[in-house]
Amino acid sequence: MNMQQQQAQLPTISLATIRSMKDRDEKFTCLTAYDASFTVLLENAGIDILLVGDSLGMVIQGRDTTLPVTLEEMIYHTACVSRARKRALVIADMPFMSDAEPTQALTNAARLMGEGGAHIVKIEGGLVMADTIRLLSERGIPVCAHLGLLPQSVHKMSGYRVQGRDEQSARQILDDAASVVSAGADMLLLECVPTGLADQIVAAVDVPVIGIGASASCGGQVLVLYDMLGISPGKRAKFSKNFLAGNDSIEAAVKDFVQAVKSGQFPAPEHLYD
Ligand code: KIV
Repeated sequence: MNMQQQQAQLPTISLATIRSMKDRDEKFTCLTAYDASFTVLLENAGIDILLVGDSLGMVIQGRDTTLPVTLEEMIYHTACVSRARKRALVIADMPFMSDAEPTQALTNAARLMGEGGAHIVKIEGGLVMADTIRLLSERGIPVCAHLGLLPQSVHKMSGYRVQGRDEQSARQILDDAASVVSAGADMLLLECVPTGLADQIVAAVDVPVIGIGASASCGGQVLVLYDMLGISPGKRAKFSKNFLAGNDSIEAAVKDFVQAVKSGQFPAPEHLYD
């Protein structure tokens, strides 16, 4: 049996699979995906979760921020991924202000799931999004809450900066984590926070946590695909290790990422913040 046939034989990954991986202390992997061809490649390389991120605004559409990405564009790319996906869990981003009001978020999340085929929606924000997360959760929509650096708030945050470095903002992010989990969030994504803070959050919550520039203690790690292949234009953040360097194909680079996360070698201290 070749590698592709072996992948197809593996059981599909659900939220329960990720929860039990967390309970067994088994690391899980996540990369962004925006189209069918990369979806097949990422699944064959063993990626557990495909994130249809609104980072597509920057890496696919060439925009400066994620803010102009529309719900229609997110549905389009989520459907491209879902059509090709055989076993990975698919998370789709709620784009900027598509979740401004709870009922609006419910309608739009339903479209990402119904038309796009997403299994989970990702929402940026903490306590301020708790009512929205509660409504979605009560209506059977799984939510991943994105905390720390919030790309949709880039202007409010005055740029893409590490969050939670002082005592007050660290406390705020810890409180946000507790609020979204008690509102029903099934997963957290922590972006660009000091390692010590990420460790406290991982220890405090009972849901799986995906890190990006956060801590090796997170159950899973995510990177933007084009960043980890070293093909995004401009300066890369320190957590975006180029896995294509030293590998002779994209599939080998992704397998290297999978192996590095599963074995606990990635992220290393040079990819993290104090
Ligand atoms: O949109 C995205 O790709 C993301 C990652 C930065 C985690 O949210």
